[in-house]
Amino acid sequence: MTRAISLHDVSKSYTRGTRVVDRLTLDIAPGEFLVLLGPSGCGKSTVLRMIAGLEDIDEGDLLLDGEFANDLPPSGRDIAMVFQNFALYPSMTSRDNIGFPLRIETPGADPRPRVDATARMLGIEELLDRFPAQLSGGERQRVAMGRAIARHPSAFLMDEPLSNLDAKLRNHLRAEISALTRELGVTTVYVTHDQAEAMSLGDRVAVLRGGVLQQVGSPREVYALPRNVFVAAFIGTPRINLLQGLVRAPLDGAMTISLGKQYLRLPEPLSLDHQLLRVQQGREVIVGLRSEAVRIAKPSAARPGEMPLTGLVEHVEFQGHENLVHFNTGSRPAVVPDLEAPRPAARPARRRRRDGGPGVLDRLRQRADALRAGPVVVLDEPLDDAPVTPPDGRLPGDLIVRTTPDLQLRHGMHVPLLVDLAHLFVFDQHGERISPAPARLPDLEE
Ligand SMILES: Nc1ncnc2c1ncn2[C@@H]1O[C@H](COP(=O)(O)OP(=O)(O)O)[C@@H](O)[C@H]1O
Ligand SMILES: [Mg+2]
Repeated sequence: MTRAISLHDVSKSYTRGTRVVDRLTLDIAPGEFLVLLGPSGCGKSTVLRMIAGLEDIDEGDLLLDGEFANDLPPSGRDIAMVFQNFALYPSMTSRDNIGFPLRIETPGADPRPRVDATARMLGIEELLDRFPAQLSGGERQRVAMGRAIARHPSAFLMDEPLSNLDAKLRNHLRAEISALTRELGVTTVYVTHDQAEAMSLGDRVAVLRGGVLQQVGSPREVYALPRNVFVAAFIGTPRINLLQGLVRAPLDGAMTISLGKQYLRLPEPLSLDHQLLRVQQGREVIVGLRSEAVRIAKPSAARPGEMPLTGLVEHVEFQGHENLVHFNTGSRPAVVPDLEAPRPAARPARRRRRDGGPGVLDRLRQRADALRAGPVVVLDEPLDDAPVTPPDGRLPGDLIVRTTPDLQLRHGMHVPLLVDLAHLFVFDQHGERISPAPARLPDLEE
């Protein structure tokens, strides 16, 4: 049996006045693999613990198979949880660790057949007589999974089960978890802060920020049609390029989006999405360009819908199979608060006020803090006292483009770029997506 899990307007505060989960509504279908994704501290574990019954729900309803379950004790929920820190009993062998919940649930019954079947499924038969201290991290996590699986629960809750493992093992176990849960067909809610993990595992991904659900959809959908700038920036590597732009829509001329010193002309005839941008005339917007939207090529090589820009090479990041080239195009990057792991092209500390007062970065941080619960983006407005060009003439990279590793690019080169405007994202000043149009449905074909 597998279960439907529904949260309706669920909120939770640990201290009065600060909701760590804020009116969360989520319907998880029986057998579905749903990933809760978000930066550390956004409330993912709290959601999981409320579903498990380990944490009280302040407001809203939890339904298990349509039945009100807020007050159901954890033992009555038939849900198994797997934690990040393995949580095995150190004094028990793997066999006893896996069999323990079975013995509690049905005292007197022999847990052996189920333990053995589970161990076979996970390929850990030879580990059954070892103690946790005699196991590697990956083996311990397999045993912990075994303990959850052996119970034949009607749902799994997994809280960052792979984050304590090294990258290679993580990828390996990720594939195993995916295969296993699909084979078992048991509803799974999987928590992670790792977007790549979320994208590769989930039937659907629910993106949380500051306790507030930002978007829920298939991995393809949240990547291709992010509802706002936070989702766009949180999902995808390398991180989407976010530049401040200004829409110009003269009645008698071509529509453009200026990006600081350069501009993009929107190709004519205007697409439906681009026509909608007309109402933004004169407004600041945020332009989002994923790395696949930009390539290095001369204007003469432009395909329909591609428009030229010029970039100054700031830095080349060698990645083996490809290079990431950091260009300066003379535009200003938009800053999205709350994202973990800032992109490598960190905003330089050089923009410090000469009088020693708070620098632009400090002020941006303050503004970011102030806006935490509000809009998802902070426009990096030009500040009169901030020098546009630092003394050494270097500007920060504002656009990252993927290239093949054989392309020889050096710092200081001017390089022609083509931007495919069919892949252009435009967000308003609050970070909400305005192009492609918010009502746009994802393409159904694979
Ligand atoms: N038991 C607790 N008491 C007080 N604050 C808590 C408790 N557990 C979590 N928090 C706070 O609630 C917020 C969300 O935490 P958590 O759900 O653990 O986030 P995540 O799992 O996404 O990292 C954080 O700010 C955290 O500090
Ligand atoms: Mg957590």
